[in-house]
Amino acid sequence: MPSYDYDDARETAGYIRGIIPFTPKTAIVAGSGLADIADMVENPITLYAKDIPNWPGSTAPGHAGRIIAGTIHGRHVIFLQGRVHYYEGYSMKAVTFPVRVLGMLGVKEYIATNASGAINTSYTPGEIVAITDHINLMGSSPLIGPNDSRWNERFPDMTHAYDREMLEFFAGLGLKQGVYAAMHGPSFETPAEVRMLRMLGADLVGMSTVPEVITAHAMGMRVAGLSCAANLAAGIDPEHRLTGQEVLEVVSEAAIRTAGIITALIDRLNRGEM
Ligand code: HPA
Repeated sequence: MPSYDYDDARETAGYIRGIIPFTPKTAIVAGSGLADIADMVENPITLYAKDIPNWPGSTAPGHAGRIIAGTIHGRHVIFLQGRVHYYEGYSMKAVTFPVRVLGMLGVKEYIATNASGAINTSYTPGEIVAITDHINLMGSSPLIGPNDSRWNERFPDMTHAYDREMLEFFAGLGLKQGVYAAMHGPSFETPAEVRMLRMLGADLVGMSTVPEVITAHAMGMRVAGLSCAANLAAGIDPEHRLTGQEVLEVVSEAAIRTAGIITALIDRLNRGEM
């Protein structure tokens, strides 16, 4: 069992560097049901999680466990098709190990996608929302434990965890914005929890992304978060029962739109306009 420390990440980054003949600038992480957005990667080189030393393999449905490196509009990208979740029983260090490796590979921008429940009823199920900020209710942090200052400082600032220029770009595309609350899951929320989250100022609720964002931002990457509001959060429609299957179906239909947004962002980044 790896300890997911600096030396493990160096080993993993070394393995990936031996296969990918370039330094990826932008990383994209596909959440549940969004794996198909990897189709936008040109000249793809595919790596499988099971072959990569120390890489935590996903057990969640809709998470393929592949890494695809290639180009989008000529920009070198690395695409994680599937992530691991805290609810799978992985430690916070394991959940964020891929982010550590990406940072060590030289990635500058970290674009996370996920599926969420809509607390804010102005969202339509299937709508893609730009995450402006988050509330960490997972009960833990990936930065707990002895601090390795080669990676990040002890007390990273989180005032602008989500890159403001990228948020402006998304607003220009007409995307709605929202605050994402992270719960550890894996049960969906109760209606009372959803009412609590609304009072706390959350617009979306999900079970991922926040540990990665904390880690990526602490390491100095620019971070963007795109959330597909797959369903109305529990209790908003009291007759509706939530299922993982419904989430995957709604999100899969949003994959092409999500890919379009990311491609447009990468084009802008590549022109040096942001
Ligand atoms: N709650 C938490 N996570 C989710 C939801 C939800 O309603 N929908 C998709 N992911």
